[in-house]
Amino acid sequence: MPRMLLSCTINGEPAELLVQPYHTLLEAVRDAARLTGTKEGCSTGDCGACTVHLDGKPVASCLVLAMQARDRDVRTIEGLATQASLHPVQEAFVAHGVPQCGFCIPGVLMSASALLAENPAPSEADIRMGIAGNLCRCTGYTKMVAAIHEAAGKVREG
Ligand code: FES
Ligand code: FES
Repeated sequence: MPRMLLSCTINGEPAELLVQPYHTLLEAVRDAARLTGTKEGCSTGDCGACTVHLDGKPVASCLVLAMQARDRDVRTIEGLATQASLHPVQEAFVAHGVPQCGFCIPGVLMSASALLAENPAPSEADIRMGIAGNLCRCTGYTKMVAAIHEAAGKVREG
């Protein structure tokens, strides 16, 4: 099947990728753009490991067709930090020693950063709801929730 040209923005840079019409956004990001920080877990929308931002909203990229991202803004874990600094939620995850095996962490960070962009003063329930689609087999979530709570304070301080 002839490939299609996907034009979009990835991590603030214009991107043109050749994809099959049946390729997912996850495949476009990992295989065509070679951004392998986004992880593939279940491929059925259940684990959240593949979470990226599409126009600022978190999506399970395994459930989005690549061509649905045409002319839209995609942000992956590689684009969460700036040249100058980590995102506050990344800093807090390091400070709290959250990552264990690390497989879920890119997806959790993308969900948490989207939550804080929309709600910089989340309750614990808001935080747990914000990462409810991200499964972690290792951490038990306690440190994760504490780190996101701390990061929210830094986001509010600017
Ligand atoms: S790989 Fe997409 S939700 Fe699990
Ligand atoms: S740190 Fe291992 S799955 Fe979350």
